[in-house]
Amino acid sequence: KTAMNKELMKILNTAMGNKEQIQQDFEGFEQLFHRYLTETGPSVDWDKIKLLPDEAVKNYQDLGLPGPDDIKSLLDKLVVVKLNGGLGTSMGCKGPKSVISVRNELTFLDLNVQQIETLNRKYKADVPLVLMNSFNTDEDTEKILKKYNQVGVNIFTFTQSRYPRINRESLLPISTNFGPESAEGWYPPGHGDIYASFYNSGLLKEFIKQGKKYMFVSNIDNLGATVDLNILNFLVGAECGQAPEFLMEVTDKTRADIKGGTLVEYEGKLRLLEIAQVPKDYVDEFKSVSKFKIFNTNNLWINLEAVKRVYEERTLHMEIIVNPKTLDNGLNVIQLETAVGAAIKSFDGARGINVPRSRFLPVKTTSDLLIIMSNLYSLKAGSLEMSPKRSFPSVPLSKLGSHFTKVKDFLRRFASIPDILELDHLTVSGDVTFGKNVSLKGTVIIIANHGDRIDIPSGAILENKIVSGNLRI
Ligand code: UTP
Repeated sequence: KTAMNKELMKILNTAMGNKEQIQQDFEGFEQLFHRYLTETGPSVDWDKIKLLPDEAVKNYQDLGLPGPDDIKSLLDKLVVVKLNGGLGTSMGCKGPKSVISVRNELTFLDLNVQQIETLNRKYKADVPLVLMNSFNTDEDTEKILKKYNQVGVNIFTFTQSRYPRINRESLLPISTNFGPESAEGWYPPGHGDIYASFYNSGLLKEFIKQGKKYMFVSNIDNLGATVDLNILNFLVGAECGQAPEFLMEVTDKTRADIKGGTLVEYEGKLRLLEIAQVPKDYVDEFKSVSKFKIFNTNNLWINLEAVKRVYEERTLHMEIIVNPKTLDNGLNVIQLETAVGAAIKSFDGARGINVPRSRFLPVKTTSDLLIIMSNLYSLKAGSLEMSPKRSFPSVPLSKLGSHFTKVKDFLRRFASIPDILELDHLTVSGDVTFGKNVSLKGTVIIIANHGDRIDIPSGAILENKIVSGNLRI
């Protein structure tokens, strides 16, 4: 611990400006590192995990609608926060993930601004949009935000902390300074950082002063995370003292979501249980759809006064996520992170709410992008709506192989996005291209073996088909 402190002091001395900010970051990091050294053993005792009592998760369908005249005053109490610290690397893009074009040339950022703009216009409200950037995304985001100067949305940003990656063996920082040659030595410590960063930015107190009551926090890449007036009404309209300080939107788990965190009861409180915390022997049990029926969408509604209180009283607690990485130069490092939803146990009267699947529409890969860009959805004022022409409400499962990973390659391989209104399942592997106006229905599997290429011709209709090499079934 003292060795760590010495190293951090050395790094601090190399800093040109902004020493106060760096010192604040280092303090946060040292606390987390201290916990990492001292909190040994598993973070949960499996025998103490209890399934949720019925009243812990509210049913979305049971919520009342707000009266039309109440909506503006409800919105006056709201702040929308989007987690915008992540990069587009996993989709082969440089810069913030939120600047990737996802639909009609509009980026995640554009869609989010449009959503809030529409809301503000419709209800004559002034809901602010707050972006939590990281040192990785701050500069690019600020540049892009200039184009929204004239738009009817007040946009605020704050920057999350920058922590040092540590060597897996020595447990000391791998960087000695903040220069470009040390860029790999730093990371944003997960979205659990929001509490400290929001507080330290001064924005939290400012919003409380303005009379705001709740923040709605979500991943910027979840296009289903729109402001829901019924949920807001439930929170703000509740009798004094009755509203939960923390409300987590969960949704029914399918076999495709077995890795998502779930809610359980632990020592009398609600707790987010992530797969990384589950002892090896219980992983199958954790994944079971029948025992743990719901998962966290990371759409969270949190009372601002309560955030201030738990932060100031130091009662905020989130399990540490140890994220091991191997850098380009072969060095094995770890980065200590936290997740925003893990703080649920630190709040009073926390609850879950089981929302429709449509509120969880994340874009993590180009397979997700295919679906979002297709005729399965239409875009209305920044929100995606599933086409009424789809005869069943489930989203198709799409698995595009590594030739499609980068957005650039994905776009090159589809002359136009196929019609997928009747698609259930698509798997594509190898060197495959699609012509214009292709239609995919039922289950379609296309596999080009190594060295082969398959070009699906324009206008083709593939229904329950396996296409592989020269073989067509
Ligand atoms: P990720 O996309 O990295 O996480 O971040 P994930 O594993 O799919 O989902 P979670 O962590 O289980 O929710 C989700 C959102 O959080 C932001 C990303 O920009 C994205 O919007 N994020 C992540 C931050 O703002 N800061 C971070 O340090 C990490």
